[in-house]
Amino acid sequence: MKQRTKSIGVFDSGFGGLAILKEVVKQLPDYHYVYLGDNARSPYGSRSMETVYKFSTQAVDFLFAHDCELIIFACNTASADALRRIQQTYLPKKYPSKRILGVVVPALEEALERTRNNRVGVLATEGSVASGAFSRELHKMNSKIKTFQQPAPLLVPLIEAGEHRSRAAQLILKNYLAPLLRKNIDTLILGCTHYGHLERQIKCLMGKRVQVVSEGSVVARKLADYLERHQEIESKLFRRPRIDFYSTDLSERFQRLGAVFFGKPIRTQKVELE
Ligand code: DGL
Repeated sequence: MKQRTKSIGVFDSGFGGLAILKEVVKQLPDYHYVYLGDNARSPYGSRSMETVYKFSTQAVDFLFAHDCELIIFACNTASADALRRIQQTYLPKKYPSKRILGVVVPALEEALERTRNNRVGVLATEGSVASGAFSRELHKMNSKIKTFQQPAPLLVPLIEAGEHRSRAAQLILKNYLAPLLRKNIDTLILGCTHYGHLERQIKCLMGKRVQVVSEGSVVARKLADYLERHQEIESKLFRRPRIDFYSTDLSERFQRLGAVFFGKPIRTQKVELE
């Protein structure tokens, strides 16, 4: 029998991906996960595509060097900006047998299942919106769908500062959501690792007619499904519940916010990416 020695890598620009990892571990607790947050260089949301690509390839090198067989790009900005290019060029050349999955496609598939009027909204970082990935991919899946994207650059800093329930945050959120409401969407994708923290407020502001797709549980469900369909990968995965956390920056802030996003305190090791 073949030895199960491989892990699942989860990469994010910072701690947002911990919220995705939390849901993944809830649904698939028996695997070995390696989490990498590039906190020294986050946020990615307002960086250029070239920079996000470069940082993402460094993260990929790190996680494959740490025995990952499969990587989840939990970061929407990296999934939208860099992932396609990495899958098309970097992976075939450097790691032809390895796989990387993003969070954008699972969220879009879910939105596609839920929409009735074919009008889907996306709330995301500036980088994700500028990449056009959400509308491009959705159009590929179903050309009848109309996508309306709204960049929300102030939400990540507000959430990280713990200010997302303030009056100011409520006003900012209202402002971001108003154009989407006017477009008569019936489904809204929360296209950023952090926005799950705003799910209740967003549901309230969008009203009952709009379905809100939050990524954590969707990504976890799609990963379970993927592993079931890809036994050649699943059969290599180490089956011992364990998570190793790495970050490019370690601070009191990381430990505090890490615990908020993951739901419990985490022990993290510092790494350099190059
Ligand atoms: N993780 C990023 C995302 O999901 C949000 C934080 C950032 O901008 O780096 O897009």
